[in-house]
Amino acid sequence: MLDVGGGNGVLGLELLKAGAERAITVELSSAYDATATELAREAGAEDRVERRVVDFADAAEEFPEADVVVMHRVVCCYPDGEALVAAAAGRARRLLAFSFPRRTWWTRLGALGGNVFLAARRMEYRGFIHPPERLLAAAERAGVAAAWEHDGALWRLAGLERPT
Ligand SMILES: C[S@@+](CC[C@H](N)C(=O)[O-])C[C@H]1O[C@@H](n2cnc3c(N)ncnc32)[C@H](O)[C@@H]1O
Repeated sequence: MLDVGGGNGVLGLELLKAGAERAITVELSSAYDATATELAREAGAEDRVERRVVDFADAAEEFPEADVVVMHRVVCCYPDGEALVAAAAGRARRLLAFSFPRRTWWTRLGALGGNVFLAARRMEYRGFIHPPERLLAAAERAGVAAAWEHDGALWRLAGLERPT
């Protein structure tokens, strides 16, 4: 499995427990590396996990295809959400599951407020509430088809499968 924007890699460890053979976590930030190494060691899975620090939207072609690609709470941290989703879908041999914030007036207002606060503190990070239909269309253009969806209070979770 491939976990794009996978933070400390815990989703990969869970999927290893559920039967996955190998987990690759891709991250923009190296800040999680020490915790991720510790968690993998505690799970006895050091030899089945791999981490790469890179922008996945730029480097997707460097990764092998994975049966399952997950991308949880990531597109909202990246300006070109469609490119990132397309890159993730392009590596999914069977399934892509990704989450994104619902686009409502209050999520957009929250993101705007958060971004103003970050800019005032001269921090680089910005949050984005991308149009969900464009994210899903980007995935479908990469050859996966919507299979299921779950709507939470804040997050929507979409599962897309590659037709056999
Ligand atoms: C909110 S965190 C979520 C981490 C983890 N998926 C979770 O749910 O706990 C979003 C992460 O996505 C990473 N990220 C954002 N854009 C990325 C990209 N283009 N390539 C790789 N990682 C990315 C960020 O560095 C950040 O750690």
